[in-house]
Amino acid sequence: MLRWWEDAVFYQVYPRSFRDSNGDGIGDLKGITKQLDYIAQLGVDALWLSPFYPSPQVDAGYDVSDYCDVDPQFGTLADFDELLSQAHARGLKVTIDIVPNHCSNQHPWFLAAVAAGRGSAERARFHFVDGRGDNGNEPPSNWTSVFGGPSWTRVPEPDGSPGQWYYHLFAAEQPDFNWEHPDVLAEFERIFRFWLDRGVDGFRIDVSDALIKDTSWTDTEGRWPLIPKDDSCGVHQIYRHLRRVMDEYPGDRMAVVETGASDDIVALFIRPDEMHLAFNFRFVKAQWSAKDFRAAIEESLAANVAVGAPTTWVSENHDVTRSVTRYGSNLNLEGAYIPGVSGGADVDVQRGRLRARAIAILLLSLPGAVYIYNGQELGLHNIDDLPDDVIQDPSFFRTQGAVRGRDGCRIPLPWVHDATAAGFSDTETTWLPVSESYRSLAVDQQIPDANSMLTLYRDMVALRKSSPALRHGRLEWTDAAEGLLTYEVSYEGETLAVVVNFGDEPAGLPEGPVLMMSSPLDSSRQLPADAAAIVRKF
Ligand code: NOJ
Repeated sequence: MLRWWEDAVFYQVYPRSFRDSNGDGIGDLKGITKQLDYIAQLGVDALWLSPFYPSPQVDAGYDVSDYCDVDPQFGTLADFDELLSQAHARGLKVTIDIVPNHCSNQHPWFLAAVAAGRGSAERARFHFVDGRGDNGNEPPSNWTSVFGGPSWTRVPEPDGSPGQWYYHLFAAEQPDFNWEHPDVLAEFERIFRFWLDRGVDGFRIDVSDALIKDTSWTDTEGRWPLIPKDDSCGVHQIYRHLRRVMDEYPGDRMAVVETGASDDIVALFIRPDEMHLAFNFRFVKAQWSAKDFRAAIEESLAANVAVGAPTTWVSENHDVTRSVTRYGSNLNLEGAYIPGVSGGADVDVQRGRLRARAIAILLLSLPGAVYIYNGQELGLHNIDDLPDDVIQDPSFFRTQGAVRGRDGCRIPLPWVHDATAAGFSDTETTWLPVSESYRSLAVDQQIPDANSMLTLYRDMVALRKSSPALRHGRLEWTDAAEGLLTYEVSYEGETLAVVVNFGDEPAGLPEGPVLMMSSPLDSSRQLPADAAAIVRKF
């Protein structure tokens, strides 16, 4: 028996950009509840909510100051309970983001640690280290933060003298927990139980692979931190513990890990006694070519088969440039955590959108779970010309503007083409400006349009639901001409052929009725370039 998450379609809601219910220009939980019918009509199985916890919002809520409450700008715990029960009433599961690697520098534990001073029990829950050089004036190592600048920040001691340094993989306002300290695991067990008791169906675990650091704090050549993740590393014991906690609860609760490590390392985190799914960055980073997509699919399947876990298929989230822009410019994400791109003049948005349509068919025809990021189903492009004074991403500030950051994929969603803020909010002054170029892509425009991206997503999710071969079929590659990606998926007597045309020339399709296509076929039943189709085989 398959468990629900093994072939589910998850829909990532970025709360601050989804829908604003109270006119303050920031999306909120009530706004999500209001739009649950929209989400249910997409046909997806589950939600993933990015953080909505109390937070100074230095990193859009990934700097949590209280893990068991709701930030007033997003609502209240009662609003969360209402969202959960309304989602469940529609058959939607709800999974939430947990941020275990670091908290906010306003978290009570961190405030207590700074106040308590060198050598205290409070400091032991974080990584406070004496500096090097005269009077400890130099940071303990040369490691840099993912958002730019050093990974160390110095605090004054309680008597006001220059004191120790604390480690932060991300912004200075995001101190890393010391996961070798037993209090930290105990606290996260409490947090897991708090939300599991409330009824959530699962978690997405932020930066899941970085919890244990090499605390020899050795300088490194590339200035990147040493973060062991292999089998012998204590991080796996942490997930085994949390898995046992989750397994105490009924209803197949699940967790998906975020890790940017190589496939073989990622697989370790989803062994049968650890977490359940891993976010597939190999697929996110695939370049527009049959060869690279095939390699991404093969490598992901192979790595997961080895540990018996299903694969996930993902092309967007709130950290990467929108796929329409990526496929329309062949932007290479290799090695990029924060793509500091400006799509600029060489993005062919129209072409990118055609390609993103093809990828919608590909994504939703592969065996495993699928993640869709809100707005992907509308074909939103990245907004890369935000003026400096509206930018929010900490990477922009930590690199003195050299990296423009991720705001361009976090623009509020357009709901009604001719309404204030395109229907996202009752105010024009939204947390990031709603792009005028999004109005024609608004939900109200796409619903009645048989050729819209939204209609394609709805149809494709429905086809996936009615054809088990598309969700958990056996995948076999079929011979294809250069530039084509062709495979068949089969399940209990049903075989569907999938063709994705990455080349420049139209391509023939196998015999059989065409169940789905991302662009119209030409008069001789050929699939145009930048398109995909699914054919039922007899
Ligand atoms: C990954 C999250 O997806 C990203 O948005 C965040 O900035 C970092 N982790 C740090 O929490």
